[in-house]
Amino acid sequence: MSAPTSQPRVAPVGPVRIRVESLTKRHEGRTVLDAVSLEVRAGEVLGIVGPGGHGKSVLLKHLPGLLIPDGGRVLLDDKDLATLSAFELARAREGIGYLFQNYALFDFMTVADNLAFPLRQERRHTPADIEKKVRAALDAVGLARAYTQFPRELSGGMKKRVGLARATITRPSLALYDDPSAGLDPVTSSRIFALIADMHASMADQAQAAASVVVSHDIDRMRAVVDRWIVLEHGRVVFSGDHAALAHALAHAPTPLLASFFADAPLPVAPRDAR
Ligand SMILES: Nc1ncnc2c1ncn2[C@@H]1O[C@H](COP(=O)(O)OP(=O)(O)O)[C@@H](O)[C@H]1O
Ligand SMILES: [Mg+2]
Repeated sequence: MSAPTSQPRVAPVGPVRIRVESLTKRHEGRTVLDAVSLEVRAGEVLGIVGPGGHGKSVLLKHLPGLLIPDGGRVLLDDKDLATLSAFELARAREGIGYLFQNYALFDFMTVADNLAFPLRQERRHTPADIEKKVRAALDAVGLARAYTQFPRELSGGMKKRVGLARATITRPSLALYDDPSAGLDPVTSSRIFALIADMHASMADQAQAAASVVVSHDIDRMRAVVDRWIVLEHGRVVFSGDHAALAHALAHAPTPLLASFFADAPLPVAPRDAR
């Protein structure tokens, strides 16, 4: 388990995996997302923060095409999701891991079957292989004993960890995490963020480096994991940039919102020994 370090990581940055162009989403007469644009490149971790109810989860759901924009576009590997057939979209989603804010586990399946589900969909693993991967994934989140349990028998924190194991079991090249540590104790929260970082780093050895997006309020833990930040307020991007840009904004033009999120967790602008 790695504690957050004071030194931001430097990401190897590859091609753009996700490009959101001026995405607008309305819901019940309200504008939930207002001309949101962002990019996520292979190799990097994007952190999305903002007050509750300001559109973070709605934004995340657009990235794999679970919600359709009212305006603007979402491109995955340069392809506009709106132009993909249902088959193409399903194929594209196989490479995406999603940890939902509310876990979205299948209540009628055991934990083991929940984890096996995305592997079975890939149709290229033997049952023995699936069992091995499921046990390893559960072990990694400290839930080996939950194998035969049903989601209703688990606490919220345990469900979150099962959700994380399910989101990453296929080693997706694009991983989307919605509030991975919400409601978890500090030790488990650190463990979850360490797992997210490990998953991201281990994929970076492969031909296609992974891209990850983390929505969270856990600024301290995010700091050790993310490369770039997006701050959403009322569905608008009010800040976008890396650690240095954020430190600069906080030092020179801190909006009350930026200050409220980051002031208690000042960002390092130089290595400790260089200060
Ligand atoms: N299916 C939907 N499509 C678009 N907007 C929605 C949908 N469901 C809820 N909303 C709206 O999105 C707003 C932002 O919610 P959400 O993205 O969950 O906030 P956050 O994740 O930042 O806490 C909510 O206030 C709600 O009105
Ligand atoms: Mg949310």
